[in-house]
This record gives sequence, C-alpha cells and structure tokens, in this order.
Amino acid sequence: MSETVRIIEMGPRDGLQNEKTPVDVADRIAFVEQLFDAGLHTIEVGAFVSAKAIPQMMGSDQVLRGVSHLTGGEFHVLVPNEKGYDAARAAGARVISVFAAASEGFSRANINCGIAESIERFKPVVARATADGVRVRGYISCVLGCPFDGEIKPQAVADVAKQLWELGCYEISLGDTIGVGTPLKARQLLRAVAGSVPMAHLAMHFHDTYGQALANLYAGMEEGARVIDAAAGGLGGCPFAPGATGNVATEDVVYMLEGLGVATGVDMTKLLAATNAISSLIGRAPASRVAAALNAKNRRARGG
Ligand code: HMG
Ligand code: MG
Repeated sequence: MSETVRIIEMGPRDGLQNEKTPVDVADRIAFVEQLFDAGLHTIEVGAFVSAKAIPQMMGSDQVLRGVSHLTGGEFHVLVPNEKGYDAARAAGARVISVFAAASEGFSRANINCGIAESIERFKPVVARATADGVRVRGYISCVLGCPFDGEIKPQAVADVAKQLWELGCYEISLGDTIGVGTPLKARQLLRAVAGSVPMAHLAMHFHDTYGQALANLYAGMEEGARVIDAAAGGLGGCPFAPGATGNVATEDVVYMLEGLGVATGVDMTKLLAATNAISSLIGRAPASRVAAALNAKNRRARGG
C-alpha cells in the first residue's frame, strides 16, 4: 500500500462537540493552528448547528475566521440546513458538510427529522453552495449499526450515499458513529456503497468504541478506500448517540500508515504536542494508544 491516504482531522469538531468542559474559541483556534503545523491541512473546525443542541460548537464562526490565515488549509464545517449555511457562508466557509443517517432512529435523534426529509433540507443547501463555489461533503451516520434501530443493511447505506452523491456531494463519509463495526462488515459495507459512489469518493469515519477502528480502516484500505477521518488523541463522540466514544485517533492512524509505507506528511512529535495540550485543557488523558505509548517513552527518556 504505497499510495497516499488523505486524513481529515476531526478533533476540533467531532472531538470537542461531546466534551463536558467547553473549550473556548481562542483555545480551539490554537488547537487548529497546532494541528495544521503538524501537517494536518484538512481540518473540520466547527459546526453551524443549534446552540441548544451542541453548545460546545458555539463560536464556530469565530473559529473559522480565526484560522483563515493558515494558507493552504482546507477547513470544513457542519451545516444541517439553510440557516446554518447562511452563517457558515458569512464566516467564509469554502467547504461544508451536510450530515444524514442510514437509520431513521438516529436521524430523528440527531437532526429532528427522518432521512427523506433531511435530504429535502439539504437540496437548497447544496444548490446554493454549488452556485457559490462552495464544496459539499456528505456524511452518513450509523453505517455499521444504530443505537436505536440496531443492525443496518449495507444497501440502506448505499441508498443514502447515492442520494447524497446525486445531490452533488464531492465525497461521502461513512460514519460508524457508535464504533460497533468489525473488519468483515466494514469490507462488505465499502463494497456495497462503491456500487453507488466511486471508491475514490468514499471516506471512512470510524469511531473506536469497541477498539475495532484501525482494523476496520485496514480492511477498508484493502478494498481501495483512501480517505480517513480521525481525531487527535481519539477525542470525540456524538451526544445523540448513546455509548459513542471518540473517533479513531489520528496518532494511531499515522503510526499504522507510516508502518505500511504510506507517507502522511504528519509530524508525530507536533501532533502529540497538540493532543497533549488539548487533553490537559479538557482534563483527561488521550484515548490514543500511540499517544500514551509515546508519552510514556518520553517520560522514561527524561528519567521520570
Ligand atoms: P429543529 O429543532 O428541527 O430546527 O433542529 P428548527 O428549524 O425547528 O429550529 C429550532 C431552533 O433551532 C430555532 O431556534 C432555530 O433558529 C434554531 P429558537 O427559535 O428555538 O431559538 N436553529 C439553528 N440555530 C443555529 N444553527 C442552525 C439552526 N437551525 C435551526 N443551523 C437542527 C434541527 C438540525 C438545527 C438541530 O437538531 C441541531 O442543531 N442538531 C445538532 C446535530 C448535531 O450537530 N449533531 C452532532 C454532529 S453529527 C455527528 O457527530 C456524526 C458525524 O460525526 C458522523 C458520525 O460519526 O456518524 C458527522
Ligand atoms: Mg463522528
């Protein structure tokens, strides 16, 4: 596997949206700056959603404006509807992400409407974005299982993926929101969805709740997928998905990819520093195994 893999860093959005301790705008900007400096140039930095639903993402407009000086960066934000689009555009968004689900139960819990209605809500958003030259990414949650509806059939995911693709999304990110997938299921999922959307336009967004995310990514890579969503330190989770923990950790992904001979362009020392800084702000140790191992190694080297 010597080709390149694109990593989309999720820490400042998915990572922080579920944290009990809200992180203020200045610290979120500093986090993005550190991640960018570590070589992560595509970063999801916020969400234009209801402040009642996700108070942690308040001030996403200031975060987006505050990182605009990082030349060469691609900064993504979540947008659920036209109101969110207005705010994202006013803050200078160049890439937005709409987010649907593969299950009715999660769709209602997360965005207060069913799947078909969510697609209708996205239509004017995507149409306006296209006219404005703004690129639109599309998420599908609960692709490998739902906390409300249970088992999800790959074909159900493929159907939603097809709709988002036909709407005009340039990439479809497949979210194992509650991290229940296993490599066989991930493989079957990618095969099924690739029947509707070219593999090159699929991203793997796997949470690590059951410790399967790296194995699932590897299985997906064997199927040909080359885009990975990950969060520094393994931060993350969704408040509307009971039991969901963080995204696969960026450190763990980078370590695996470099071991496979896939260059990531990420400086592990700088990434670890970013993870340690945000972890001390929110008051807990990183979930990443690689971060824990490197921190322990560094302590030993200092004689601690
Ligand atoms: P709703 O209640 O159906 O919307 O919420 P509404 O149009 O009836 O409006 C209700 C209130 O929300 C109104 O305010 C609106 O102005 C306001 P009020 O009059 O009550 O004061 N409102 C907004 N405010 C700010 N920005 C907006 C916006 N829209 C309406 N864009 C809505 C629908 C989608 C807005 C709501 O349910 C919501 O914000 N949900 C948040 C969902 C969310 O952010 N979830 C986490 C991210 S998704 C995720 O983590 C999964 C992912 O990582 C992939 C994976 O892992 O699977 C992407
Ligand atoms: Mg997620």
